[in-house]
Amino acid sequence: MFSNVTLETSWEEDYKIDIRNLRQVYRVRRKDGSGFAEFVAIDDFSLKIKDGEFVSIVGPSGCGKSSLLDIIAGLAPAGSGSVLIDGREVRGPNLDRGIVMQGYALFPWRTVRKNVEFGLEIKGVPAREREEISSKYIELVNLTGFENRYPHELSGGMKQRVAIARALAYDPGVLLMDEPFAAVDAQIRENLQDELMRIWEKTKKTIIFVTHSIDEAALLADRVVVMSPNPGRIADVVEVDLGRPRANAEMRLDRGFALIRERIYRSLQEKGASSEEVPRIENTGPLEMAAPLSVAGQAGL
Ligand SMILES: Nc1ncnc2c1ncn2[C@@H]1O[C@H](COP(=O)(O)OP(=O)(O)OP(=O)(O)O)[C@@H](O)[C@H]1O
Ligand SMILES: [Mg+2]
Repeated sequence: MFSNVTLETSWEEDYKIDIRNLRQVYRVRRKDGSGFAEFVAIDDFSLKIKDGEFVSIVGPSGCGKSSLLDIIAGLAPAGSGSVLIDGREVRGPNLDRGIVMQGYALFPWRTVRKNVEFGLEIKGVPAREREEISSKYIELVNLTGFENRYPHELSGGMKQRVAIARALAYDPGVLLMDEPFAAVDAQIRENLQDELMRIWEKTKKTIIFVTHSIDEAALLADRVVVMSPNPGRIADVVEVDLGRPRANAEMRLDRGFALIRERIYRSLQEKGASSEEVPRIENTGPLEMAAPLSVAGQAGL
């Protein structure tokens, strides 16, 4: 992994995260098998995120959302451009960023409790306190009673909830979440959304939350960044100027909420994918709106 070098740069106090002209290029196999080609997954991506802000990122499959989060997390180096957190360039992973990724990536040799306590151990939190904190977060994600199970003894949704508890438990300033609620059922998903909003309001973490769901993006965020594919770019940034707290059930009937989700939907439709891939629009009611599912072909590759 790359080393943790601090770069001195000009910095505006208000911003927690400054993403500057990111570009990510992968070497991919050509469809016809004739060697490799370069594929631009992210291009010209710049975004400043305020301290304590909640930003959702929505876009079709393959538009570069996970690639972007990997770079911010320090799990992959950027092709070019940079990410600054508190004015320091990201050069690798760090406990100042909690990560909940698409695959749960739990430690298979650790029990639920030991997974949740991982970051606390690294921070040197004493055992008794670790147990208190882990119990609190295990309860938060509805896993009390499963503390001594190993990941292979859990369902996919349960593993995902352990990953969420683990990221929250050591109280990082920045939370990076890549479709964290995609694998859990509707009721638990709503509970987790409400809990996440409550935790965020209490702790004022800076959150970047990737989702396929337009509803989820609009419900949670202060701003929704809409990405378009080929290459992954910012297509639109939508301010969610609705009050808080936002109750899940009420929002679904709110006129302002309906307008915001419609704007996101239209941005995705115009720049996101071909019309056949866009789901029918529903303005009211509890129906979940999903972002268009896939990027139409990876041109020429
Ligand atoms: N390591 C890699 N090597 C080559 N291509 C890659 C690699 N990682 C991602 N890609 C490609 O880059 C593009 C963006 O992938 P990424 O996983 O970031 O998309 P995504 O927006 O997170 O999609 P999804 O919504 O399906 O999770 C895709 O076309 C993918 O095939
Ligand atoms: Mg992804």
